[in-house]
Parts: sequence; structure tokens; C-alpha cells
Amino acid sequence: LWTGPVVNCDSVKKIHALPTPCLVVDLDRLESNLDKMSRFTEERRVALRPHAKTHKCVNIARKQLERGAAGICVATIAEAEVMLRGGVRGLLITGEMVGEPKISRLTRIVKEAPETLVVVDNSQNVDDLQNAVRNAGIHFGVLIDLDIGQNRTGIQPGEPALRLAEHISNAKSLTLKGICAYAGHVAHIAGFEQRRASSLRALTQAVETRNLLLKHGHDVQLLTGASTGTYNIDPEIDGLTELQSGSYIFMDVEYRRIGGSSGKVYEDFSPSLSVLSTVIHRSSNKAVVDAGLKAFSTDRPFGPEPLELSGVQYEFAGDEHGRLVMDSPSRDIRLGEKLRFIPPHCDPTVNLYDRFFCVRGDVVEDEWPIMERAGGAPHF
Ligand SMILES: Cc1ncc(COP(=O)(O)O)c(C=O)c1O
Repeated sequence: LWTGPVVNCDSVKKIHALPTPCLVVDLDRLESNLDKMSRFTEERRVALRPHAKTHKCVNIARKQLERGAAGICVATIAEAEVMLRGGVRGLLITGEMVGEPKISRLTRIVKEAPETLVVVDNSQNVDDLQNAVRNAGIHFGVLIDLDIGQNRTGIQPGEPALRLAEHISNAKSLTLKGICAYAGHVAHIAGFEQRRASSLRALTQAVETRNLLLKHGHDVQLLTGASTGTYNIDPEIDGLTELQSGSYIFMDVEYRRIGGSSGKVYEDFSPSLSVLSTVIHRSSNKAVVDAGLKAFSTDRPFGPEPLELSGVQYEFAGDEHGRLVMDSPSRDIRLGEKLRFIPPHCDPTVNLYDRFFCVRGDVVEDEWPIMERAGGAPHF
């Protein structure tokens, strides 16, 4: 029976002793991705407020801040609370805080961290936020969430955004700080030049809206956006003040497939995240691992890809099973051995787990909680 932590890192030091399936972060690769993005943004003189929706982990947010990030983006109120409890400041909440209990929780956050920013795209929501904090003597900053083509949240560019800016200026407890313009629909466009053209077209609407707001006397200090697919494209736009890329720290199959500026595989950042599995069945032309539908996100039409092994295809084979089809395996695969897989999509895969096991080579150096969930009973 389980009576304590899944793995005691003091006694288990090697990756092959980890319980499978589990989520593994290669620290050398993670640090190289963090360093690369931080050097890039420094050279291009654009700020970085990386998105924590990818990792949901205070330890990683701290590493991003140590390397010069201006703050951290979060998608949900729960992510904001976890980050703040972990001492992470400079939060931008990129999802609209509409209704209860979101607004009350936001009020508690801005009381403790008045620099917190939140996006708005609706005048009713502006009124609700204003009413919630009016009597508490709290002020906080908001960004206009602009829909530059994703057709998700966000107000339309131009006049609608200007009218919202005017509405915000009448809300005495809120201060307009700028524009949030995330073009999620272009992040995964295959082919660098196609992606570049679409992203610049989308962001141009944000710059035009910023200019319109400035012309009418509004203060637009921040223009924030960008993804991992466009981090090296969007700084071409004059006026973009910060990048909010997230997946660059881990990468995934989806991003590797979009192609980079110099090749078919997008290799600007290296895959640092994998799911570790055990080969639990082996027969003539087949190997089965213990990582199936519950171990990876299943939101994409393709499956995971093996790390450090080629010539095999992964197929989902059930909740707890993945089948390896052997085309021409680059090496022998043995029963009981541990295999790592790059997840199809990193964010929803991370969301399935309660911790990262952090490895350097084959040594387990650390264990980092995801959303502070670790510490409970084992998942597996
Ligand atoms: C608002 C917002 N900003 C930034 C990102 C980061 O994008 P990526 O993980 O592709 O770098 C996302 C991802 O979904 C997002 O929703």
C-alpha cells in the first residue's frame, strides 16, 4: 500500500527506477531552451513574459524570471494563485475573468500583487471588475484583448477596441496598460515564410489599433503577443513590446512538424519533455509500452514520437497501452526497457500529471510539482 511519496529522490537516483508512465524533463535541454529565448529577447530588445500555461510549475517560472523575464503569463485564476503562492510576481492573466468566483479570487490576487494585469474584451466585464474593487481601494491594470484572427476571445481591432478603451478610462479603479494580441491561429502554420506572412498580417492590426488608441490620448505601454512558432517573426513588428511564448521550453511533436527558418523540422528549441514508459510486451514485430491514452494528450491527429529511437511508429492501443509498429527499428527493443516519447502536444499532456521528474543524463536530480498537486497519492 502507498504510504508516502511516489519516489524518494534521496534513494532513487536513476531514471530507469522511475514509476512509469511518468513525465520527465531533461534539465540540460530545458536550460538550453530557456537560455536561448532569453538571449534572443535580450538581443532583439523585446521583453519576455513567457506563458506558464505550458508548465504550470513555480520552479520553471522562477527559472524564467532569473533569466530576465519581465513577468509570467497565466491562463487561469488557479494558475495565478499557484504562481503567487510560489512568490512569482508580474503576472498577466491572459484569460477573461468573468463571473464568480473568478472576480473575487482576482480581487484577492490584486490586493496582494497590485502589479497583476488582466485582459478584458467587454465593457460589461469592465463594469463588473470596477464594481468588485471600487470599495476595496484597489487599483489594477488591464490590457485590451484583441481578436486578430483567432476567433476566440478578444474584441475586434479598430473602433470597437477604441470604444472599450474609452469605457476603461471611466472605470476609476482600472488603468489601461496596453493590448494583448495573441495570434494562436498562426502559431502552427507549416513553413516559415507562410507563418511569417500570416503572423505579420495579424499583428499589423494590433499595431494599427495601438496607434488609434494613442491618437485618442490613451496610454498603450504594452503590446504583448507571440507564440513559440512566431517568436523570431513578431519582433519584426515595430511596437510589439513583449513576447508571451510558452511551448519553447519543452517543444512537442506538433511544433517539430511546422518547420523552421532553415529546415523541415522546427529545431530552434530542443525537445526537453518526454513521457517515460516501460516495454511491457515484446513479440516478433511488436512492442507494447505502458503509456497509452491516459499518458498523452489525444487532441491531435498524430501520436507521440520516440526519443532516441527511429524506425518505429507509436499507435495508441488503449487507455494504458501504446503499440510500437516496427518498420526498421534503429536498435533492438527489449522487454522491460524504458522508452521515452515526445508528447504530441505539450500543454495538455503536462496537465495530466502532478509532477515533473527532472533528469540530467540518466540521473534524477529533482521532482517539481505541477500546480502544487504533487504530494498526494500516486497517479499510477
Ligand atoms: C494567450 C496565449 N499566449 C501565449 C501562448 C503561448 O503559445 P505557445 O505555447 O505556442 O508558445 C498561448 C498558448 O496557447 C496563449 O493562449
